[in-house]
Amino acid sequence: MGMQRTLVIIKPDGVQRGLVGPILTRLESRGLKLVGLKLVEVSAELAARHYAEHLGKPFYDGLLAYITSGPVIVACVEGTSAVQMVRNAVGATNPLNAAPGTIRGDLALDIGRNLIHASDAPETADRELALWFTDGELAGYKRETDRWIFE
Ligand code: RTP
Ligand code: MG
Repeated sequence: MGMQRTLVIIKPDGVQRGLVGPILTRLESRGLKLVGLKLVEVSAELAARHYAEHLGKPFYDGLLAYITSGPVIVACVEGTSAVQMVRNAVGATNPLNAAPGTIRGDLALDIGRNLIHASDAPETADRELALWFTDGELAGYKRETDRWIFE
C-alpha cells in the first residue's frame, strides 16, 4: 500500500487526562510522520460537520456535547496505509471490545469517553482533513529516519 494521510483527534478526555503525549508517542513510535498538529476549541458548527454521518442517532447529542466539552488536539499523520494503520492502533469503538495494546484497549473504559478519533477510510480522511486543516497547516517534509521506516 502507498503513503496515506489520516486525521487523528485526541478528544477532550485525552487532553484533560494528560494523555496527549502518550497517545502521540504511540503514533510517532510506530513511524508515522506528523504533518499537522494543533489544539482546537471545537465549535458546535465544526462538531456537527465532522459528525454529520451520525445525525439522528441516539448518541448524537451526547457525542456533540463530548467533542465540544474542552479543547482537542488535532493531528494529521502520514505513513504506509496510514488510515488502517491508525484505526488498528486506536482499537474498537467500544473500549470494552478494544484489544489490549490498542490506545482504547489500554487507556479507556467507556464508549462515550474513548479518547481518540481516527478517519475510517481514505475518502473520509480527505474530507475530514479538509475540514480541520488548511493546506498551509500541513507540512510536506522528509525525515532523516524515513529510509529506516519506509522501504
Ligand atoms: P471515531 O469516529 O470517534 O473515530 O470513532 P469510531 O469510528 O470508532 O466510531 P463511530 O461509529 O464513528 O462513532 C463516533 C463516536 O461516537 C461515539 N459513539 N457512541 N453510545 C454509542 O452507542 C456510541 N456509538 C458511537 C463514540 O465516541 C465514537 O467514537
Ligand atoms: Mg468514526
